[in-house]
Amino acid sequence: MLPRRLSLPVLTLFLLAAPGLSAQATLSSIPVQEFADRRAGLAAEVGDGWILGVGGVTAPQPFIPFHQDPVFRYLTGFTQPEAALLVWAQGGQVREEMLFVQPRDPAAETWDGYRMGPEASRERTGIPGRSIQELPAVLDSLAGAGALPRIHVAASYNPGAAVANDVTQRVQNLMAGHGDVEVRVVTPYVDRMRQVKSEAEIALLRRSIEITSEAHREVARSLRPGMNEFEIQAIIEYTFRRYGAERPAFSSIVGSGPNSTILHYETNDDFMEDGEVLLVDVGAAFGGYAADITRTYPVNGRFSDAQREIYQLVLDAQLAAEGVAGPGVSMGQLSQAATVVLAEGLAELGLIEAPDATFEDEMGRQVPQLRLFYMHGLGHGIGLHVHDPTPPVLEPGVVFTIEPGIYVRENLFTEVIPDTPRNREMMEAIRPAFQRYVNIGVRIEDNYLVTAQGLERLSTAPREVAEVEALMAAGEASPAPRRDEWVERFRGMR
Ligand code: GLY
Ligand code: MN
Ligand code: MN
Repeated sequence: MLPRRLSLPVLTLFLLAAPGLSAQATLSSIPVQEFADRRAGLAAEVGDGWILGVGGVTAPQPFIPFHQDPVFRYLTGFTQPEAALLVWAQGGQVREEMLFVQPRDPAAETWDGYRMGPEASRERTGIPGRSIQELPAVLDSLAGAGALPRIHVAASYNPGAAVANDVTQRVQNLMAGHGDVEVRVVTPYVDRMRQVKSEAEIALLRRSIEITSEAHREVARSLRPGMNEFEIQAIIEYTFRRYGAERPAFSSIVGSGPNSTILHYETNDDFMEDGEVLLVDVGAAFGGYAADITRTYPVNGRFSDAQREIYQLVLDAQLAAEGVAGPGVSMGQLSQAATVVLAEGLAELGLIEAPDATFEDEMGRQVPQLRLFYMHGLGHGIGLHVHDPTPPVLEPGVVFTIEPGIYVRENLFTEVIPDTPRNREMMEAIRPAFQRYVNIGVRIEDNYLVTAQGLERLSTAPREVAEVEALMAAGEASPAPRRDEWVERFRGMR
């Protein structure tokens, strides 16, 4: 689906091993050495010069949670606000590093909580720490000494965006007095590293995905006609926290009836009726790593014939993509496999005139009719961001989603399809099917790890029609004892 505005997960820095720089030291259960290796990898790409990394700032309003920027978190593991990183690379090697952080301030900490300060940050991250207040002077002196003909920015820096994010503003402020320093953005190197996950990252993803699968099982056990979407959202987010996830990785999508056809619906406040479907697209963040799983449920526990027909088609498309996925296969090939199934199935259901039939858009261009019902991409990487970078060709260590969908919007004929003679002809042909399936939106989204052997599906929420209906018939939400088991299992992961 299209990237959306997201807040990013936060996790307090947590050291499992004793403080210090032992080989076992970890940040969020990721070894400190792994962060150092990432910076070394970046230095190897840059070659010579200074690299600047910039983290997120505290929200200007009080009580809004801070979530570290994913690029900065990836390079440092540091999760507190207002931080920055300088790395000096020479001959592709890291020669010097500095982590600039908020200084200790007991008065401010009374209100806002513990600040690590330069000393403790060095112990935790292995990077020599300095006060963030010193950064402008350090840049001035580097520039004054002629050491900054250019600066390599490795950050979520995007000056071309309509609204500059906080990291972009910080980089711009820092460079404002240095108009002669060339800014070279090297974030694509970091994105490339982020495409393939390490063992430690995969372990965190397995946890967030397992917790999110459990939240889906709770939905299946709890859903009844007459409930409100917000009750289901509450059950999901309660389950996330109950099992130790820090928060939803993105706004929970809980849409019933007509709302199931809105791709990024997040109002979540309608009552749910007997005979509707409920589309639930949610993901926990654990240790900063996002899951992203969608299931579509019949509100009354049994799919109607029409709902089952759409559901099975979407599932068949997902299975087709799964069937071709593995090392050496491109996302485009997966998409093609799913698209063929969807186009043929929609034609059989009568929602499109033929697998390759087209309609006219408002510019008079021919657009596949398939796009009236399936208008997003097939999947994306997941990681520190719910839409993490994905390589063009899959390889072992890539963790990603496959999420086909079909959405029969009620305003399709009245507001979406331009009123032209050719389109009117099409609407007449597909009207009976449209009326049969209107207000059914189905998406099925799972999370996968590419392995040397092929593909591992990491998400375990029920997916087959019979499995979903069986769990919905099984009844009440989970008993408490299982909570202890889960909490025990995940203790110490962060
Ligand atoms: N939840 C957003 C997505 O599926 O991409
Ligand atoms: Mn999703
Ligand atoms: Mn997704």
